[in-house]
Amino acid sequence: MDAALDKKPASGGLEAEIANRRTFAIISHPDAGKTTLTEKILYFGGAIRLAGQVRARGERRRTQSDWMAIEQQRGISVTSSVMTFERDGVTFNLLDTPGHEDFSEDTYRTLTAVDSAVMVIDAAKGIEAQTLKLFEVCRLRDVPIITYINKVDREGRDPFELMDEISEKLALDVSPVTWPVGMGTQFKGCFNLRDNTFLKPSREGAGGFEEEIRVNGVMDPKVAELVGDETLLETFRSEADLATSACSPMDIEAYREGHLTPVFFGSALRDFCVSDLLDGLAAFAPPPRMQPAEPEPVDPAEEKVTAFVFKVQANMDPNHRDRIAFTRICSGRFKRGMRLNQIGTGKTMAIQAPIFFFAQDRDIAEEAYPGDILGIPNHGTLRVGDTLSERTDVKVTGLPRFAPEIMRRVRTGDPMKVKQVRRALHDLSEEGLAQVFKTRFGSDWIVGVVGALQLDVMADRIKAEYKVEIGFEASPYSAARWIHGPKDKVEEFIAKNSAQIGDDNDDSPVYLAKSAWELNYTAERWPDLTFGQTKELV
Ligand code: G4P
Repeated sequence: MDAALDKKPASGGLEAEIANRRTFAIISHPDAGKTTLTEKILYFGGAIRLAGQVRARGERRRTQSDWMAIEQQRGISVTSSVMTFERDGVTFNLLDTPGHEDFSEDTYRTLTAVDSAVMVIDAAKGIEAQTLKLFEVCRLRDVPIITYINKVDREGRDPFELMDEISEKLALDVSPVTWPVGMGTQFKGCFNLRDNTFLKPSREGAGGFEEEIRVNGVMDPKVAELVGDETLLETFRSEADLATSACSPMDIEAYREGHLTPVFFGSALRDFCVSDLLDGLAAFAPPPRMQPAEPEPVDPAEEKVTAFVFKVQANMDPNHRDRIAFTRICSGRFKRGMRLNQIGTGKTMAIQAPIFFFAQDRDIAEEAYPGDILGIPNHGTLRVGDTLSERTDVKVTGLPRFAPEIMRRVRTGDPMKVKQVRRALHDLSEEGLAQVFKTRFGSDWIVGVVGALQLDVMADRIKAEYKVEIGFEASPYSAARWIHGPKDKVEEFIAKNSAQIGDDNDDSPVYLAKSAWELNYTAERWPDLTFGQTKELV
C-alpha cells in the first residue's frame, strides 16, 4: 500500500507528530460489527503504549488505579470512549460512538472531534437507517469516510450491488481496495487490489486467515492455485477486472474532500482485511485538520495550544461529584501542568492531571499533540463546547446542540427534593445527556432528548447518583427551537409568547411549539426570526 502518501517527516517535531496522527470514529448500524471490528483493530494495532508520553511514577500510578477502581465498582467504562494505540509510527486515536439504536447528542458531538470515520456495513444488509443518519452528520462536518463491508465470510449481497448502493444513496464515488473471493460457503479469501496480496483462510469455515500471499496480479497462476475452483476463479478475475476498470481509481484528494470512499471488503470476526484497513487509514486518512474557530480557524501547527471539550462524563466518583472532560487538542504541543485560559470565563486552569486513554488502561499524559484526546478531571468547571487555550482571543466553533425530538415533563415525587432534582437535571444536561428547559410560565421542567433510551438512562442515573426518583409524563410540547434574530424582534416575540417560552441551561430562550404545524405557522408570522434546530455552543 502507498504508505508514503503522507510522507512522514523524519524529526520528532510538532509537524511530524501532527502528520503521524489519525483520529477517527467507527460509525455503523447496530449489529453490523462495530464492536468486533474495534476489538480487531486494537488487536492488529498492537494497542501499544506510547513510549515517552507515559511514564509510571508513584503518584501517577495511584491516580490511575483510583480511576480504574471507580470504573469497576460502578460498572461503567470511560476507557472505551477513547482508545489510543500506535502502529508503524502512526498514533491512532479511536473514538467510540455509543452503539445504541437510539443515540444521543454525544454521538454527534464525538464526530466533531474526529478527522475521519470508518463506516461499517453488513454485506448482507447494505446501508441501514442509522448508518445513513451518522453518515449525514459526517458529511455536514466534511469528515471523510472509509467503508468496511463486513461479514463477507457469510452469504451477502453481490459486491457490485453494494458498491452501487453506496454510490447512489450516499452520492459518493467508490474505490475498491480489497475484494472478496467468493462469499458465504464459497468464501476463499480476500484480495488486496492495490498491493496484490491474497489473504487465505486458515481452515474452511472457521478461524481467521492463514497468511498473506503476495502475487503478481489476479492473473498470477498462484491465484488459480489458491482459489482452486475454476468457476469461482473466473468469476473473481472478471469481478476484479471490472472493479478496477469501472470503479473510480483511488484519489486521496477526492476522498479527503468527501467525494470518494475507499472500500474494503472483509470479515472482522475472521480477521480479514483489518490490517489492510489500518494501512488504509495510515495512508489515506487525514492528519488533524484546521479546526473551525473564531476569529479564524486554528491551524494544528500553531505553536500555542488550543483545545476544546466535546464530551463530559459526570459523577465518576459519587462522593466527589467529579467529572472528566474529554478534550481534543487542536493545536500546539501540550505539556502537563500547562495553564490554559477557559475562554469566555476569564478563568485560567493549570492542567495538572490530564489522562490518556489506552485500550485497557489509562495514565497521566505528560504531553499531547493535535488530534489527541485528554481526559481532564474537574469539578464541574469544564463544559461541553468550552475552548481551552494558551491564547485569549480564540473560540472553537461548530459544536452543535441539537433540537430534541422527544419532549417530556419531569414529574417529581417528593416536593422536599426539588433542590436535588434541579441539581441533577442541571448536571446531566451539562453533560449532554439531555436538554432541560425551564418554562417561564408554570415553572415546569421539560426534558428534551434525541432518543427515548436517554429518558431511562436519565431516571436511573438520577436515582443512583442523586437519590431522588423522577418520572416523565407527556408534555404539551413537541418541539423546542432556539430563537435567533434582531434583539428587539426576539424580545417582542418573547413578550407575546411568554406562555411558550422556556430557558435552556445557559438561560438562552427557546420557543416551545405544540406541533409542527404551529411551528411552521409561527415561523411564517415572524419572518425576521429564525427558529433554530441547533444552538451553536460557542
Ligand atoms: P455491533 O457492535 O455493530 O452491534 O456488532 P457486533 O460486533 O456486536 O457484531 C454483531 C454480530 O455480528 C455478532 O454476532 C458478531 O459475532 C457478528 N459478526 C461481526 N463481524 C462478523 C464477521 O465478519 N462475520 C460474521 N460471520 N459475523 C460477524 P452475535 O451472534 O450477535 O454475537 P456473538 O454471539 O457472535 O458474540
